Amino acid sequence: MLALDIIAKKRDGLALSKEEIEFFIQGLMQGETPDYQVAAWLMACYLQGMNTEETAHLTYAMAHSGRTLDVGDIAPLAVDKHSTGGVGDKTTLVVAPLVVAAGLSVAKISGRGLGFTGGTLDKLESFPGFTSDLDMSQFLDNFAKYRIVVVAQTPDLVPADGKLYALRDVTATVGSIPLIASSIMSKKLAVGARAIVLDVKVGKGAFMKSESKAIELARAMIDLGESLGRRVMALISDMNQPLGYTVGNALEVKEAIDTLQGAGPADFTTHCLTVGAQMLLLAEQAKNEQEAQLKLQDILKSGQAIANLKDLVGAQGGDTASIEDPVLLPQAKLVHLVISPQEGYISQLDAMEVGLTAVDLGAGRKKKNEPVDHAVGIVLHKKIGDRVERGEDLATIHAQNQQALERAQGRLLAAYDIQEEPVEPPTLIHHILR
Ligand code: URA
Repeated sequence: MLALDIIAKKRDGLALSKEEIEFFIQGLMQGETPDYQVAAWLMACYLQGMNTEETAHLTYAMAHSGRTLDVGDIAPLAVDKHSTGGVGDKTTLVVAPLVVAAGLSVAKISGRGLGFTGGTLDKLESFPGFTSDLDMSQFLDNFAKYRIVVVAQTPDLVPADGKLYALRDVTATVGSIPLIASSIMSKKLAVGARAIVLDVKVGKGAFMKSESKAIELARAMIDLGESLGRRVMALISDMNQPLGYTVGNALEVKEAIDTLQGAGPADFTTHCLTVGAQMLLLAEQAKNEQEAQLKLQDILKSGQAIANLKDLVGAQGGDTASIEDPVLLPQAKLVHLVISPQEGYISQLDAMEVGLTAVDLGAGRKKKNEPVDHAVGIVLHKKIGDRVERGEDLATIHAQNQQALERAQGRLLAAYDIQEEPVEPPTLIHHILR
């Protein structure tokens, strides 16, 4: 078998066999297939798609590119959640400590920023000293001790996803249903909780722009999960505008801390309570959604979940002092207000443009393995449906230099649309699929 023939077969729209997919993933892992061939194969998969069997074979091959373990054997009530990627999506930072405070356990493999979307690991690495590269024994020890651990793909854990993810990020091949579904579900299969809540984002700042595509992705992942013996449900949630008010790593961490103390923005708090409630339901720790939400609301009000965030950050080498005092988080040199040029109601706030602006400021990567700047980003002051007066603040930019700041200002102004008539804010949760 040759990698070249497998690329050509996919390029021509033919289905790959289990053996061909396994051969390709092995070539990737053993360094025999160079990046340029993997990139060509990814583009062929992106353009030609993959059928259900190919996606299942790819998921299985990726999951078994490293070790696999069932975290349900180590700590009780292990439940996982995973987002398909969005802008301002810091949900894991809140939901994981929150559900752990409610008695569940969370062991997660998370990702870094991908394209215009942010990544949980980049956000967590805003805590000075935090590492997501734990070896297997540290991973298991932390999980057994604290019931919360968030790591990266390592040479031990789904290494094939680590390699493919980094290449997809820089070859415009992220937004493909089989590639996203296999990337996410291989991680769930490798470090598997038996119950998984998928947060499938839809809209301008998501990889799935239409509801029908988001539902197709959710169904593909539910089917994959169920065929692998997991209980899976999916939310289809809005990503037309950023979630919450911050975009950029340390800024998002600060917003997550506020939310865990019961002082987060309404949309983000509601989103976290919805995802968390579904996790409690899947773990059979609440009779219905209302009971689950009330339980989690009480935890948020009491601020007790902050202790679980401290456990997570501290056990992985991070400085927990910045949880008490977020001023200790990385800070940008320049902070600049963007002022509204007109009055009216915000009718659009293009999440993808805001995400790309954050990447351009340095919060994400333009090249493979580039470091990110944890300090930079955007704080929004107005979102869809809000009234704004001429000269009022629309957003604040946190930048490291004047040129980046000026580019960001132009882009942000273009991301906002303002109209005379009042506007309804978008629905947060579009569908719940079981
Ligand atoms: N999250 C992942 O883990 N993988 C993707 O491909 C997209 C989002």
